[in-house]
Amino acid sequence: MLKVTGLATGYGKIQILRGINLNVPKDSIVALLGGNGTGKSTLLKALSGLLPVWEGMIEFDGQPIQNLPPHTIVRAGLTQVTQGKDAYPAMTVEENLKLGAYTRNDKVEIASDLEKVYTYFPRLLERRKQFSGTLSGGEVQMLVIGRGLMARPKLLMLDEPSAALAPKVVMDIFSTINRIRKSGVSILMVEQNVRMALLLAEYGYIIRDGVILMEGGARDMINDPNVKASFLGGTVADTTRDIKA
Ligand SMILES: Nc1ncnc2c1ncn2[C@@H]1O[C@H](COP(=O)(O)OP(=O)(O)OP(=O)(O)O)[C@@H](O)[C@H]1O
Ligand SMILES: [Mg+2]
Repeated sequence: MLKVTGLATGYGKIQILRGINLNVPKDSIVALLGGNGTGKSTLLKALSGLLPVWEGMIEFDGQPIQNLPPHTIVRAGLTQVTQGKDAYPAMTVEENLKLGAYTRNDKVEIASDLEKVYTYFPRLLERRKQFSGTLSGGEVQMLVIGRGLMARPKLLMLDEPSAALAPKVVMDIFSTINRIRKSGVSILMVEQNVRMALLLAEYGYIIRDGVILMEGGARDMINDPNVKASFLGGTVADTTRDIKA
């Protein structure tokens, strides 16, 4: 679905990412992991067309997409939910959701996708006429994921969907992400919650100082002593069954 080869980018003259190779197969969840400021969001921005690609290739669904304008990339089926939960507070939930369909004009299908988003997130249906500024943190996260779905993506990129949310809400969000994948949307997910991300994903990449430090099957990574030592401190119960239920 997505194949990144030798990607380099940065801000102005400052290079952040070097030689990034990454794949997201169809119908899979791939986790992009790493500490603060290592370049995870920068990579998503380059994939979305928000940052110029200096070197390398981005192939999406068989077509090169590097340096195409963001709306063209969205229309091709690659949608990013940005970090920081940026809903428009003075617009209603439903207005925010409809914004996600800005590249589309298939009215009937937009309406049916809106219904689908409400089945993923019944809370948003209850709150559809409320201003999004009145929502809780978890509800805003649901809203921005729902808005991403309104573009009808083939691949959805999520930047830290679990950040700053209560554990119960994190479980809900992750299990919905799994349902979204099962509906045929591939997922590239940036996460600081390494254990949860690896429980859900098939494959993971760890990025450090702008390069891929390690990659592998999620099961192997979760059992890797180096990953354990660096990222999986503390004991958390294996919640796979709950998430994947
Ligand atoms: N708009 C910008 N202009 C200049 N430098 C930036 C900009 N945004 C990020 N950077 C720098 O690029 C590097 C990578 O940042 P990035 O946001 O990609 O990290 P991240 O891995 O997403 O971190 P976090 O987990 O904190 O979100 C950091 O050194 C950061 O300071
Ligand atoms: Mg980030």
